[in-house]
Formats: sequence, structure tokens, C-alpha cells
Amino acid sequence: MDWGMENRLSQVVQPDGHCYFLPIDHGYFQGPTRCLEKPGETIEPLLPYCDALFVTRGVLRAAVNPVQSKPIILRVSGGTSVVGEDLANEEITTSIEEILRLNVAAVGVSVFVGSRYERQTLMNLAELVNACEDYGIPVMAVTAVGKELVKRDARYLALACRIAAELGARIVKTYWCDDGFDKVVNGCPVPVVMAGGPKCETEREVLEFVHDGMQKGAIGINLGRNVWQSKHPVPMARALHAIIHAKAGVAEAYELYQETMQGE
Ligand code: 5RP
Repeated sequence: MDWGMENRLSQVVQPDGHCYFLPIDHGYFQGPTRCLEKPGETIEPLLPYCDALFVTRGVLRAAVNPVQSKPIILRVSGGTSVVGEDLANEEITTSIEEILRLNVAAVGVSVFVGSRYERQTLMNLAELVNACEDYGIPVMAVTAVGKELVKRDARYLALACRIAAELGARIVKTYWCDDGFDKVVNGCPVPVVMAGGPKCETEREVLEFVHDGMQKGAIGINLGRNVWQSKHPVPMARALHAIIHAKAGVAEAYELYQETMQGE
């Protein structure tokens, strides 16, 4: 692996092989999402716990201090909205010059396998990989399901992850599932990170699925709403950090969550 690629990957994946990415990119299709109306204020207290931020260039310039920033994974696909016809109809939004100008550690692009725009979004990924590999920039593929959350089963996710890896993604972000997440990870030749999806009923539920996913081979998380839409974002971030980087079990992480919450 060339120096630039290895250096960038090492900024986002820590020496223990694990990672905690904090996504605040939801506004690119959802607008001012609950608790993300002022992204700078949302992320500030969470920064000590995450290894990288997943953002668009708009939020990066408007809300992230460029001095001693966390490594940035730049969201570079978009062009659709929740009130539009089809969330899958994405294109690449950001030129390679802009990616280089922003000095990011990696870029992220969604693929919508099985959708009307499957080919278009897979080609977005492939072409982005072509451009980014020339400059040693890792591409993270996001296996998106649009509004169809029912697609979150192991068979579908394994298919989407494998295709994304085959097209050159260096990391694949997907959903955890309860019907064989190990098959998703084992069928994917590059590291897998877990997204959270819509807010879970309880905080413990989040810790449980993240812990299970880590046991089954994920290298970490890219988890947003279940952290910053929680009533207690900092305790959540701290508990998740303990699972990702300190091998905490669910009970230990939950205890940490409660302890931090009581001290707030
Ligand atoms: C939005 C994204 C998010 O980065 C991803 O879904 C993770 O966030 P959450 O945990 O809130 O689902 O790709 O398009």
C-alpha cells in the first residue's frame, strides 16, 4: 500500500484496528434533522470520543474548526431529498480537486443495490475509486437502503457489501442485522463498520447491537442518530467508545453510560 493511502487509513482506523466514526451528514437529504440543526454545537462535546467525522463539505466549512480537527471522511454523493422522487438517484457531488483542497482522510459514497438506480450508484462508487486511488484517498461505500428499512437482512446486506468491496471500496459501512451479521462481515473482503439507522427504543439496545456486531467481526461504527438524538449524547458516546476501543461488554458499557449520565 502506498504511503498516502496507508497514512490516511491510519488516521481513521486506530492502532487497535477499530474505529468510531461520527456521522453528521444527514442534512444532505433530510435538511435540518432533529438535534442536528446546529451541527457545530452537536458535535463539539462528542469530539473526544470519536476517531473521525463523516460530513459534507458544507457542514465541514461552516461548522468544523480546521485547526487540529479530527480526521474527516467527506460525504461526496447526493443530489436527492426526502421529499423528492427517489433517494437512490444520487450522483457524485464533489470534484477530486475539492477533495484534495479539503485535505480529507477519506471520502464516503452511497450505493443503492437493488434500486432503480443500482447501476448509476455503483458506477458512482467505481468512478470515485478510480479518481481517489490516484491520490491515495480511501473510499468508504455506504450501503444505503433509502426508505426501505425492510431490506436490512443478512442476505441483502452481504450482497451489497461484497459488491461495494469488489468495486474498490476500502471500507464498507452497512447496517447490523440479527439474522447472521457474521455472514455479512465474512463475505466482505474489506473492513465493515456499522451504521445505526433510526433511533432505537433504548440506549441499552444500541449498546447490545454494537457489541454483537463487534463480536461478529465489524471493526467499528459510524453511528449518528442513536448518539446525538439520545437524551444523553455524551454518556452514549462514552459507552460506545468503551465497546469499540476498550473491549467493554454490554453491562460494563451500560454502567459507564449511567455513571456519566448521573455526573452531567
Ligand atoms: C446518512 C448516512 C449516515 O452517515 C448513516 O446512516 C449513519 O447514521 P445513523 O447512525 O444515524 O444511521 O449515511 O445518509
